[in-house]
Amino acid sequence: MNIVVVGAQWGDEGKGKLIDILSKDVDITVRYQGGNNAGHTVVVGDKEYIFHLIPSAILHRKKICVIGNGAVIDPKALLEEMDGLNRRNIKVSTQQLKISALAHVVMPYHRVLDGLREGKRKHKIGTTGRGIGPCYSDKVTRCGIRMIDLLNPRVLKAKLEDNLSEKNEIFTKVFHQDIFRFENIYNEYLAYGRRLKDYIGDTALFLNQEIDKKKTILFEGAQGTFLDIDFGTYPFVTSSNSIVGGVCTGSGVAPTKIDKAIAAVKAYTTRVGEGPFPTEFSTGLKEEIRTKGKEFGATTGRPRRCGWFDSVLVRYSVVINGISELAMMKLDVLDDLKKIKICTAYRYRGKIYKEFPLDFEVLSNAKPVYEEVDGWQTVTRGIRQYSQLPLNARRYIEKLEKLLKVRIKYISIGSKRDEIIKKY
Ligand code: IMO
Ligand code: MG
Repeated sequence: MNIVVVGAQWGDEGKGKLIDILSKDVDITVRYQGGNNAGHTVVVGDKEYIFHLIPSAILHRKKICVIGNGAVIDPKALLEEMDGLNRRNIKVSTQQLKISALAHVVMPYHRVLDGLREGKRKHKIGTTGRGIGPCYSDKVTRCGIRMIDLLNPRVLKAKLEDNLSEKNEIFTKVFHQDIFRFENIYNEYLAYGRRLKDYIGDTALFLNQEIDKKKTILFEGAQGTFLDIDFGTYPFVTSSNSIVGGVCTGSGVAPTKIDKAIAAVKAYTTRVGEGPFPTEFSTGLKEEIRTKGKEFGATTGRPRRCGWFDSVLVRYSVVINGISELAMMKLDVLDDLKKIKICTAYRYRGKIYKEFPLDFEVLSNAKPVYEEVDGWQTVTRGIRQYSQLPLNARRYIEKLEKLLKVRIKYISIGSKRDEIIKKY
């Protein structure tokens, strides 16, 4: 069975924990898009791990992890992540990690450009500043540098020279910055190539050969559906296809080989960075939930914006990702609340919207229509059986299942590996 896990909201849904649980039953885990803008947290015993590029399944020894062609790789960040794991006695071998030769490389000028472009915008996106957008821009503009190029000094030289001749003009004339020197980058990136050489290969071929051998794959989505470059709240999105559709182009595995899509969804909603967020809390609840849910970005440390569960949004995710099961994360964060609201539609200029509106003006100004339910005001952390959950918690979950027209299979009630309830 080959499974995809995506985020149903704006990222940070708890994909890391879900993937950690699911990856123990598969042979291979694949990242298919995004870069080190992602931050996937896994808690094992009293140890916390935050993954940015490497699939979190690396914690399961002997499982193979792949970074597919759809991802963008900052080799400096990747090596730091590998070294960090090494220091914690998790050796990342070439048997265990495979990197697509076709994945695009995040260059130093991408990181700098990311910040400079943000600085010039009137309406900032609030990017993670990791150079993700500029790297994907170069990929689409056809001037990008790919991992395989780091292994061929002649190709790297030609591509880098071309890039710098254009980019240095932009840096000096548009942004009044210093230029990037060819020699420095060239030598630095050739050195990365030498270190990563044995990890780099044709991962599309590898994955398809493994599928033929009946090996099972888990595709690990980064970001969330509403950060998707096509279906998200554009332009306040990331630069890749974070929805299930990204799997095929981002890994070279055909849709006919994918059996199931699961989405991680938070029991409420959060968002880092700018952009529309109809159910965002305006009151003290924002602080309360942020503190209880430890809602600070795993990559940038920024405080996350928090709000009520938005079923209009998540229903749209279920549809475009073909979700057959949801994993509801962080239910325990709502334990103390007396009343809980669920957004079931939006209102704008007297009109009711039951479907996710595509007009940016509507989405930005939409007022949520809420249904209010009673909270359970009971600690749920120790519970392992669905039937043991407080009645009002079960009512909340079942109400969401009705609204979303999909089953909620897993319910997470804490950050540890075993703090999860399997509903069926
Ligand atoms: P995980 O995988 C939450 C957000 C940024 C910003 C927008 C664009 O941990 O869920 P980018 O640097 O990608 O160009 O920024 O996307 N963003 C995330 N928010 N979780 C993430 O990843 C994110 N990756 C990007 O905050 O609003
Ligand atoms: Mg994150």
